[in-house]
Amino acid sequence: MNTLTGKHILLGVAGGIAAYKSAELVRQLRAQGARVRVVMTAGAQEFITPLTLQALSGNPVHSELLDRDAEAAMGHIELARWADALLVAPATADFIARLQQGRADDLLTAVALACDAPVAVAPAMNRAMWENPATQANITALKARSIHVFGPAPGKQACGEVGPGRLLEPEQLVTALTGLFETGALSGYRVLVTAGPTREAIDPVRYISNHSSGRMGYAVARAASEAGAEVVLVSGPVSLDTPERVTRIDVISADDMQHAVQERVADCDIFIAVAAVADYRPGQVAANKLKKSADQMTLVLARNPDILAGVAALPDAPFTVGFAAETDAIEDNARAKRVAKSVDMIAANRVGKGAGFDTPDNALQVYWQGGEQVLPLTDKAKLARQLVALIAQRFHDKHNKVIRFNAKDSA
Ligand code: PMT
Repeated sequence: MNTLTGKHILLGVAGGIAAYKSAELVRQLRAQGARVRVVMTAGAQEFITPLTLQALSGNPVHSELLDRDAEAAMGHIELARWADALLVAPATADFIARLQQGRADDLLTAVALACDAPVAVAPAMNRAMWENPATQANITALKARSIHVFGPAPGKQACGEVGPGRLLEPEQLVTALTGLFETGALSGYRVLVTAGPTREAIDPVRYISNHSSGRMGYAVARAASEAGAEVVLVSGPVSLDTPERVTRIDVISADDMQHAVQERVADCDIFIAVAAVADYRPGQVAANKLKKSADQMTLVLARNPDILAGVAALPDAPFTVGFAAETDAIEDNARAKRVAKSVDMIAANRVGKGAGFDTPDNALQVYWQGGEQVLPLTDKAKLARQLVALIAQRFHDKHNKVIRFNAKDSA
């Protein structure tokens, strides 16, 4: 497994001679474990056939903006939502100009406009076209809008000239694309994440639990690791693979989870509590399987420790992020929970009726003192990356304030 494993890469191909390299690029992306879909401009299809890219990507190639079949399945909005990243390679001078203008008159520009995932262009064109002030102004404007520009490389060009304008080689593009996910926003920091449900034993064969699948917590752990953090994941019982470079500690009950967290919390800078910890456990665990006899049975429950509140109350508490699983009054309940547990940030999600628990998608409303942000419905992997980027921002803001405060104090 590597960073691109399982990532949804939308490859845009514009009409230039370097379009032939997109075939090898698709092959290499898939070899890295990425899922690839291709959008071609009309011009691109003059240089390479959709069939080639369809065969290599394993998915139909998209090219029409107004396509009845595509609208029913993968129209421009669905494609934009599907993408974890959009890379346009090659990006011609014309495509770059149209992207800069915010046009949406063909499928590729429309997808780019609708895409809230990272967007990158890999320019490929004649040297003079690249150096032309019009293209350079367009590139500057794209960079100012956080669009990434990979290349171009200098060298001998298809037109016979020598200079900048060559498309980067496929392996260089794969590396650059990997860098979009490995942001470095948490490089050098240690993150402790809890995920999944807990199980509270009733007797040797029965327990109380909930529907948490661990997907959200595992996605957060993976996103934090990709952001450069050293990540420890304390996980309740789930059937998920451990994300790359993440240290996983398996636990069963809330009590186990609390111990695992307490043992490691002194070594972390950020604590993110995604686990759905059971609030109560049976007061007594029966030594033997309970027999059915009476028509009714009463279980006496005891309160479990609040792991998150315990961490936030530590004298040297890390930056703490809680989740709030709510069925109603989401904002009010989440804000109240943040204050009651004294945490830096809280990410609230609606749960129940097919939302939140055990679903591939989720949406979050994130609150902190003096701020909030909505992260709209998307798949949990993408959502986790957005959340981790936000956590990194807030964490660094708080960190810098503390450093400034201490510096003032000692002056
Ligand atoms: O695992 P998935 O299927 O992907 O589902 C994801 C999720 C819905 C479980 C996740 O997004 C989520 O909402 N997790 C928090 C669930 C929860 O327990 O919420 P809560 O509102 O009851 O708890 C608030 C916070 O306190 C949470 O950060 C929780 O981890 C923490 N807590 C709660 C109780 C307790 N005894 N100890 C805690 O640390």
